[in-house]
Amino acid sequence: MPKFIGAIDQGTTSTRFVVFDEQGAIVTYHQMEFEQHYSAPGWVEHDPYELLDSARACVEHTIRKMSIMGYDASDIQCIGITNQRETTIAWDTLTGQPLYPAIVWSDNRTTDTVKELAAKSEKGLNALQSICGLPLATYFSAVKMKWMIDNVSAVAEALDQSRLQFSTVDTWLIYHLTGGLDGGVIVTDPTNASRTMLMDIHTLQWSDEALSFFGLQGMQLPKISSSSQELGLISDGSLKGIPISGCLGDQQSALVGQKCFQVGDAKNTYGTGCFMLFNNGDSPVFSKNGLLPTVAYQFGSSKPQYALEGSVAVAGSSINWLRDNLGIVSGAKEVNELAAAVNDTSGVYFVTAFAGLFAPYWRSDARGTICGLTQYTKREHLARATLESVCYQSRAILEAMDKESGKPLRSLKVDGGMSNSDLCMQIQANVLGIEVDRPKMCETTALGAAIAAGFAAGVWKSIEDLDKVNAENHTLFTSQVTDKKRQSMYGGWQEAIKRSFGWAAT
Ligand code: G3P
Repeated sequence: MPKFIGAIDQGTTSTRFVVFDEQGAIVTYHQMEFEQHYSAPGWVEHDPYELLDSARACVEHTIRKMSIMGYDASDIQCIGITNQRETTIAWDTLTGQPLYPAIVWSDNRTTDTVKELAAKSEKGLNALQSICGLPLATYFSAVKMKWMIDNVSAVAEALDQSRLQFSTVDTWLIYHLTGGLDGGVIVTDPTNASRTMLMDIHTLQWSDEALSFFGLQGMQLPKISSSSQELGLISDGSLKGIPISGCLGDQQSALVGQKCFQVGDAKNTYGTGCFMLFNNGDSPVFSKNGLLPTVAYQFGSSKPQYALEGSVAVAGSSINWLRDNLGIVSGAKEVNELAAAVNDTSGVYFVTAFAGLFAPYWRSDARGTICGLTQYTKREHLARATLESVCYQSRAILEAMDKESGKPLRSLKVDGGMSNSDLCMQIQANVLGIEVDRPKMCETTALGAAIAAGFAAGVWKSIEDLDKVNAENHTLFTSQVTDKKRQSMYGGWQEAIKRSFGWAAT
């Protein structure tokens, strides 16, 4: 009888359910996009029910595909959940219903909230760094929750009446998949909790000091369980009775899916944004170079592992911008074709700072900037500059990681949508000057959640059991430009970055 493991990957722009076999090969999967709501400049919202419905629909479509292949839902031993992180949902504990749309991680409506909070402490933006490791920024969940309490009367009332539930996307999905008001479990894991600013990164417990700093005392919080343990049983649909036994934020899940279990292993995932994580062992490192300490994973009752993270806010979403806002391409495929039709950008740089810049710059005043346009510039050059932009931002993060670890990284594992482009990965190797390693099976985010779930369910018993998982058919990209060329390309980027600063109020 086959032993399959399922994973729901609820990302920023799409949801998928992937079924893996014990070798980590995909049996089948289904993916769906859902609506992004941009109700004001800088605002990004999701409908929490659309996230849930898309997860359920992906499961049912996948099970149908499995049955056509001659398999049964009961061949799935367990499932893992992985999700867009920081996105915040406030719900009413009496009804289980959201009190407001989900505020998405990239939403920057909280710029003023951040300023007000920073003004409360002598340490300014680093007010809570010693507790949670993170700077105050629009990115993190507690800031979004504070905004809801200050601006949405239904949320403030629920807090007053002790029926306000704080939730990230993992908690929302697991609660409803395990029964909602009818016995649903309210849990999260340390990787998701480490992105809220409310968890003590040393103890992996909610911090009273952080809660009181944000004025969030009295709010109901999910229980922090480990990333790999049985959390509850699915209450209905084709997977009824199957345990959810893995839970990881999507970037940490990709780290696990890329099997970055050794100190010094690093991966870069090119999704809506782009996120580089570096495994730094069993204690958090507080960066002086704009990187974020974060929990990488905690399996069962073992010691948590930590990572240093460099987050780029805009990666795949820049391609959507070319398609949806400028209308000059039909999608990623055409961006690649256009970019490949020219040898370089002819001096064009595109800083995709649509809502400020994240790591390592952390400039909320930066805005999207295109430099170096001439009468000669064509959309081919702009397409190539769009791909280069994420590669340069990844280089800035890699340099910060090298400084932090004191030991330059020699190879970077990659995955996510843009990593499917050979051209983009070749540019990445040229810009970094190190080897870029892409597995054939790029669904590593879903694979990470499946690994966490499979460990708890006994499908795999040790990290060595994973040796053969997704190990074959990697493509290695190495630099094809000279050091001199690399430095001059990156020098231009550093000038372009400076020109993006100061376009919005700080
Ligand atoms: O921190 C945000 C991140 O979790 C979003 O990931 O893959 O949906 O862009 P992705």
